[in-house]
Amino acid sequence: MARLPVLLIALFFFSAASVDRCRVEASFWDSTYFTWGTQHASVYNNGNDAQLVLDKISGSAFQTKSAYLFGTIEMLIKLVPGNSAGTVTAYYLSSTGPEHDEIDFEFLGNVSGQPYIIHTNIFTQGIGNREQQFYPWFDPTDNFHNYTIHWNPTEVVWYVDSIPIRVFRNYESQGVGYPNQQGMRVYSSLWNADDWATRGGLVKTDWSCAPFVAQFRNFQDRACKWYGPGSIWQCAAETAENWYTSPAYGQLSNAQQGQMSWVRDNYMIYDYCKDTTRFNWNMPPECSKPQY
Ligand SMILES: *[C@@H]1O[C@H](CO)[C@@H](O)[C@H](O)[C@H]1NC(C)=O
Ligand SMILES: *[C@@H]1O[C@H](CO)[C@@H](O)[C@H](O)[C@H]1NC(C)=O
Repeated sequence: MARLPVLLIALFFFSAASVDRCRVEASFWDSTYFTWGTQHASVYNNGNDAQLVLDKISGSAFQTKSAYLFGTIEMLIKLVPGNSAGTVTAYYLSSTGPEHDEIDFEFLGNVSGQPYIIHTNIFTQGIGNREQQFYPWFDPTDNFHNYTIHWNPTEVVWYVDSIPIRVFRNYESQGVGYPNQQGMRVYSSLWNADDWATRGGLVKTDWSCAPFVAQFRNFQDRACKWYGPGSIWQCAAETAENWYTSPAYGQLSNAQQGQMSWVRDNYMIYDYCKDTTRFNWNMPPECSKPQY
């Protein structure tokens, strides 16, 4: 009996220590600002939550103050519920300029009861056209779900509730661009895209359902801050501080690969690498390289 309290105290210290070391709580107030529709959007709950609103007058958007090169960007998102057809909630990393890098999540709304589409893409030095799409295996409007982008010098991974759904590995040495030269900011927006979003534009936004609201929570930027080109070597250096360069993050574990196959076998609805018509059989070079 006497042992129990000791064990509990030990457990408490262990968990407190690991939480402290690994969690960088980044409030929306401190880390982001609204760039569009500021009269619609809001931050609440001590800066831990934010919401974007879309109505007939305007959508809304925020972005981070900082840019990042490598690490993990994590966001919990609760998508527009009910009839969200025609709306798009975007959440992505992007640098600026014509040769920009970009890593995307976009959520295409639908009429009540019909599935959202989780749309992903990646641009490297201005080149995109690398879309992959999935149906969620859960209702993304019933609660917050965890959408995390991880990237390091070796690979980019898109995670949904800690399940990797897509990997883009670094094949720079074989002529495929990789996002490792430019800092990217985090952007999020809610807007009307009813010319293409839902069933390819067939279903229009029903404005009688407005305002549409998407909620964001618990933004975490465990990532290397970008202060200009000097950050390229600083953020890529294999140091303890740059935790994402440790071998553990060089490749997905077998278990993670299994999870990813499950998603891709069961929920993937579009893969640019299989779209031979679009590329006239002239497939992008990364399509013939193993991604996991
Ligand atoms: C979100 O997913 C990332 C990647 O798997 C994970 O590291 C993080 O702990 C998750 N966050 C929450 C709140 O579950
Ligand atoms: C909306 O639902 C229709 C019918 O189930 C489906 O074909 C479509 O992929 C869904 N998602 C979007 C964003 O259009």
